[in-house]
Amino acid sequence: MPTVLITGTNRGLGLEFVRQYQADGWKVVATARQSSPELEATGVPVHRLDMSDLAAVATFRLDQPLNLFIANAGTYGPRDASNAEEAGEWLDTFAVNTVAPFLLAQAVRPHVQAASGKLIAISTRMGSVADNSSGGFLAYRSSKTALNMAWRTLALASRELVCAVLHPGWVQTRMGGANAPVTPEQSIGGMRRVIDRLTKADSGEFFDYQGQRVPW
Ligand SMILES: NC(=O)c1ccc[n+]([C@@H]2O[C@H](COP(=O)([O-])OP(=O)(O)OC[C@H]3O[C@@H](n4cnc5c(N)ncnc54)[C@H](OP(=O)(O)O)[C@@H]3O)[C@@H](O)[C@H]2O)c1
Repeated sequence: MPTVLITGTNRGLGLEFVRQYQADGWKVVATARQSSPELEATGVPVHRLDMSDLAAVATFRLDQPLNLFIANAGTYGPRDASNAEEAGEWLDTFAVNTVAPFLLAQAVRPHVQAASGKLIAISTRMGSVADNSSGGFLAYRSSKTALNMAWRTLALASRELVCAVLHPGWVQTRMGGANAPVTPEQSIGGMRRVIDRLTKADSGEFFDYQGQRVPW
């Protein structure tokens, strides 16, 4: 039975990843900074992990091989940085969206190596420099751009593994809002297909939930 570790699983896309992999017969290990009735209902083991607690992230350990790690947890952060308080929140956004996913990937890499598995980060098209024609969302965009670079660097340091960043589409979650055109079921179904098909030739690359390359 393959095993997947997923962060940010109490709601949104993380919860849907848990449900679909579980339904597909995978062993799911979930992390969340706080659980939820919906996550509890799945019955999967939940490790409490706040991605802003970098010491806890760096020392996170499992006792089993991992076929797949999905760094899903993410946050918007401030839309602008015009004072020291907002700048501090921008740094906090970097911790959760960029530094913690990289640190956790490093922490679990031996487990993923043991299964010749895959390291996946959930990024966003909003982190694409080439795609940024409307501006705004400073902390979110820049932290995801940095995540993309961190994951490419991880891929180059982990040539025996498959590492990729994915854009889930604009999805109906608390982050995406009710007007988003894509449902969590469609997004996760698509990303699972993309993840399944990824080979070493795709390592270090950026794809959307339909398998299309996203420009950097
Ligand atoms: N929805 C979209 O349209 C869209 C588009 C592009 C990319 N994405 C990306 O997809 C991923 C999932 O987003 P979503 O749409 O599911 O958003 P969401 O509904 O807002 O869920 C975000 C998840 O991240 C968790 N999280 C936030 N900060 C955390 C922290 N410090 N420690 C641990 N967990 C933390 C949240 O937990 P709490 O409940 O504890 O806050 C929640 O489980 C994110 O990386 C996001 O950037 C989403």
